[in-house]
Amino acid sequence: MANHQIKIITQEGESVSFDCAEDEDIISAAIRQSIFLMSSCREGGCATCKGVCTEGDFEMGKVSAQALPLEEQEEDMVLLCRCYPTDNMVVEVPYTFDRISYSEEGKAFPAEIVELEQVSSNVTKLCLKRSDGEKQIKLDSGQYYDLEIPGTQTTRSYSPANIENNNGDMEFLIRVLDEGKFSHFLKNDAKVGQSINVKGPSGIFGLVANGFTPRYFVAGGTGLAPILSMVRFMQEWGEPQPCTIYFGSTFEEEVFYVEELTQLAREMDNLTVKICVWKATDSWQGEKGSVVDVLKKDLESAATKPDLYLCGPPGMVDATYTVCEQLGIAEDKIYLEKFLPSVS
Ligand code: FES
Repeated sequence: MANHQIKIITQEGESVSFDCAEDEDIISAAIRQSIFLMSSCREGGCATCKGVCTEGDFEMGKVSAQALPLEEQEEDMVLLCRCYPTDNMVVEVPYTFDRISYSEEGKAFPAEIVELEQVSSNVTKLCLKRSDGEKQIKLDSGQYYDLEIPGTQTTRSYSPANIENNNGDMEFLIRVLDEGKFSHFLKNDAKVGQSINVKGPSGIFGLVANGFTPRYFVAGGTGLAPILSMVRFMQEWGEPQPCTIYFGSTFEEEVFYVEELTQLAREMDNLTVKICVWKATDSWQGEKGSVVDVLKKDLESAATKPDLYLCGPPGMVDATYTVCEQLGIAEDKIYLEKFLPSVS
């Protein structure tokens, strides 16, 4: 089987090279040579490993159409975990060189479940404490961890709502689905005191420095977790940009963390919180309508066009994009994390 040279070029123009056989995906080949590129699901479903091939040829395995839409495939975008080279390749990736590591040391650690609480009709709060003697939780707000279901090798990726800390604390908000392996674990087997393996952090979603430009954070459902982490980071570091959280749910019983959000807005002079319920009853006190409708109204009257941070289901993200396009907000002012289904 032929071997090909793969050159990965990062955002700032640094590069790393390694070889890859034709029957090997690029992420696996890099790991074999102790190079840990950004990846998460490693099954073509999350888009964490996305890059653009600027030289060479390849074949793509099965990927989720949401992680790599056809238009992107036509522009030579690739998911490296499902990309098999048929030639030497050069691939540009949208992250900086410091996101590439050369060992997994420190990336995986055990943690103990310290709190488990249903916070809405379909969301469970899962709090963990690092239990390997280390206290440090490293995190750029917006990143995620992989949590392994105890007794299996199945992992799922979730962004925590906390910020980095030296207490070993992590706070996850997890949507509980009817089907779903992690949901099954949470509903049936998880208990306080149980140990769970954690790996990370990973991911490139996060705050971007852009002067005093206002920040609008748009969260659908448990997309609130990374958004909360970012706003809590702003609070911790006294970042002065005016910011608004738009938190959307379909029904009132799906809303959670009203108390936490209200408290945060009380503590931060520069924060406004809008909790939006799409199918609200007459008694709902917050915003009525979809989060995108509420956002659109505000964007139309905004004196300064903000930077937007989106995290939620693809429908919400795509609808927000359309609104931004209509209002002339440039794509490079939008930072996002979509929830994507896995493909196998
Ligand atoms: S790691 Fe490649 S798509 Fe998730």
